[in-house]
Amino acid sequence: MTEATSSKSVPDDEALRLIGSVPAWYHRIAVRPGIVTPGTTDAASVLDRLHLPTDCSGLRAIDIGARDGFFSFELERRGAEVVAVDYMPRQGTGFDVAARLLGSSVEYRQENFYRLRSAELGKFDLVLCLGILYHLPDFLGALRIARDLCRGRLYLETLALEQPVRADGVADVPILQYFPMRERANDRTNFWAPNLRCVVDMLEDSEFRILRSEQQGDRVLVVAAVVDDPDRRYYWNIATGVDYPA
Ligand SMILES: C[S@@+](CC[C@H](N)C(=O)[O-])C[C@H]1O[C@@H](n2cnc3c(N)ncnc32)[C@H](O)[C@@H]1O
Repeated sequence: MTEATSSKSVPDDEALRLIGSVPAWYHRIAVRPGIVTPGTTDAASVLDRLHLPTDCSGLRAIDIGARDGFFSFELERRGAEVVAVDYMPRQGTGFDVAARLLGSSVEYRQENFYRLRSAELGKFDLVLCLGILYHLPDFLGALRIARDLCRGRLYLETLALEQPVRADGVADVPILQYFPMRERANDRTNFWAPNLRCVVDMLEDSEFRILRSEQQGDRVLVVAAVVDDPDRRYYWNIATGVDYPA
């Protein structure tokens, strides 16, 4: 019996019990007709704006900071081979329950962003870094890792500075605001908010070419393609030594 078949054998009342056993859902995931997990965020609207390929057959995708797995499961539905990564265990979020109810075969890795390497995982056509960058203390190091994993496109969505920061109204300067512990939403896992220009500049310096970027309120979304820039890589490598992927 396949996993997909066995998921249907879970009766609706058991499905609802499993969903209710997850203390906090982040994603609203339609696990079967009429049953949606009670998430608090609007991932569907981010998905609309990402413009991911509708047919992902033959593509490898990695969803870093997957949480309950909304984007991982959507990529799987579109035909991609998907690796979901989060430093939380899969039973610590809604991922395990959602995967079971969907009959998903997405590979889950409990791992820290900073430990991901293409030498171990291989390269990915689609790299998703959604809602995670502002949780990472070393922004450029994370982008370098995303670049190492990527052989196609990066989809990045993050908290961002909403307002022009300079008094003279000049907003087109790359700016990164640091949040001392708990300053942002009383959440100790929040470190940084860049403005859109800063995200774009840092991506370009991390060997990406910007395909599309947009800002909505305090969130930005950027789609970028990998490029090879040995000159930038050389200066990155001499600056960081051996701890990051070359
Ligand atoms: C705000 S949620 C975003 C979930 C999803 N990507 C989305 O956009 O809806 C951030 C997720 O990233 C995970 N996370 C934060 N820092 C991480 C790190 N250093 N390594 C791996 N996962 C991390 C958290 O556990 C959480 O599940």
